[in-house]
Amino acid sequence: MARILIVHATRSGATADVATILSDGLRGRGHDVDVRDAAESPSPGGYDLAVVGSGIHTGAWYSEALAWLDRHGASGVPVALFNVCLNAAKPEKRDETLGYNAVAAGKAMPVAQESFAGRYVPERVGFFKRLLLRTMQQPAQDHVDPQRIRAWADELDAALVAR
Ligand SMILES: Cc1cc2nc3c(=O)[nH]c(=O)nc-3n(C[C@H](O)[C@H](O)[C@H](O)COP(=O)(O)O)c2cc1C
Repeated sequence: MARILIVHATRSGATADVATILSDGLRGRGHDVDVRDAAESPSPGGYDLAVVGSGIHTGAWYSEALAWLDRHGASGVPVALFNVCLNAAKPEKRDETLGYNAVAAGKAMPVAQESFAGRYVPERVGFFKRLLLRTMQQPAQDHVDPQRIRAWADELDAALVAR
């Protein structure tokens, strides 16, 4: 059994939901999991693994998730990274969406990385960002896929068991 900290940054809720599904999967594998908001800057002290996730706006992680990595990414606790974005719903964009992790990965030497499909809920996005999404012809959509997220929980569990 490992102690795992999941740190997330979200604007419209999808990354928080992914973090919850991931935590359920890891708990199902017998791990002790805490889920915290990156803005609280939770310490990774005492954990065996920190899993850090952020939503993506215009190709970039949210600032509070990057700030968490700046502060805690080199603490010695292994770090796994994931992002949540719309392009991850398109298999042909796999390289691009994993590429969204590059800046974050530069701060933490991650042991694992993923990119999960998120959702677009116009009511949860501010006026100007909504305008941007409209010019990109993006309708409301929801691609959050619990099965894929649980599969990654299983991969993380296997890596922890193999340590
Ligand atoms: C202003 C804005 C910019 C976005 N830019 C991208 C992008 O560059 N690539 C992408 O795949 N998704 C993009 N998205 C979609 C978000 O990544 C998606 O809605 C995700 O679920 C957001 O996570 P959150 O709900 O945790 O904030 C964008 C959404 C908004 C509102």
